[in-house]
Amino acid sequence: MDARGLRTVRVWDGWVRLVHWAIVVLLGLSYASAQAGNLRLHFLSGYAVLALLLFRIAWGFVGSETARFRCFLRSPLAALRHLAAFPRRGPDREVGHNAAGGWMVLVLLGLLLAQAVTGLFADTGYGDFGPLAKSVSAAASDRLTGLHHRIFYYGILPAAALHILAVAAYALVKRHDLVRPMITGRKRLPAGVAPPRMGSPWLAAALLGAAALSVYGLSRLG
Ligand code: HEM
Ligand code: HEM
Repeated sequence: MDARGLRTVRVWDGWVRLVHWAIVVLLGLSYASAQAGNLRLHFLSGYAVLALLLFRIAWGFVGSETARFRCFLRSPLAALRHLAAFPRRGPDREVGHNAAGGWMVLVLLGLLLAQAVTGLFADTGYGDFGPLAKSVSAAASDRLTGLHHRIFYYGILPAAALHILAVAAYALVKRHDLVRPMITGRKRLPAGVAPPRMGSPWLAAALLGAAALSVYGLSRLG
């Protein structure tokens, strides 16, 4: 414990951090590969995002305390109260996502999942298509391809920009550094704040393996 009564606590497990930064990199790769017309690479990176998301959703039910939806999804009223108190300075006491951030996480995960799932049904019309594109009508595949574009440009990009702006606002207005904990897993918190319980790494590895296998199975359908 230091002179200000702060001590270092492990708040994010390695799995949450791995999923986060891998998704950041893979989003860039998915965009760049689609623009370059390298659909083979685009599919691979899309499958990797899908596997990570499936794992993250499962981990949200059985994983570390700070990863669990039940622990970070609070009422909309709590989220509004949190936002109303935003300009107030004071030490960071949040062990995991704050009441407003929790909803943002849900939106980001939902949009990413919708993006990956619509991709499975997408068709370029020039011989490259997702593994489920031919299991629906051409009209449905067209609509889902359109959605695949729109979710990215009108959903994911604005939501990710807002997310990054919010993280920057915490740093500038409240002097709360949220980025370092998402890298190292550790945060300085007041001594009275109890450390969160971490999930089993064996369970995490098994879930990640199962998610990867399921997506591999899915990819072989087309
Ligand atoms: C370089 C840019 C980014 C930075 C600095 C950043 C930073 C962070 C930080 C600090 C958190 C934890 C917030 C908290 O303390 O509650 C977080 C969570 C999260 N971020 Fe980002 N982020 C970035 C880009 C993105 C992008 C592009 C996406 C996807 C569209 C994304 C999706 C998420 C998600 C889903 C979470 C929740 C993590 C979880 O609970 O598993 N982030 N991010
Ligand atoms: C979350 C991960 C993904 C992201 C961020 C993403 C993003 C994109 C983007 C930005 C485009 C290009 C839109 C444009 O031309 O302006 C695109 C096209 C495409 N994506 Fe994805 N994608 C993802 C996952 C997938 C997956 C898993 C598949 C299938 C396995 C897929 C199949 C396709 C196809 C076939 C196209 C071409 C559609 C066309 O020519 O109109 N995507 N994607």
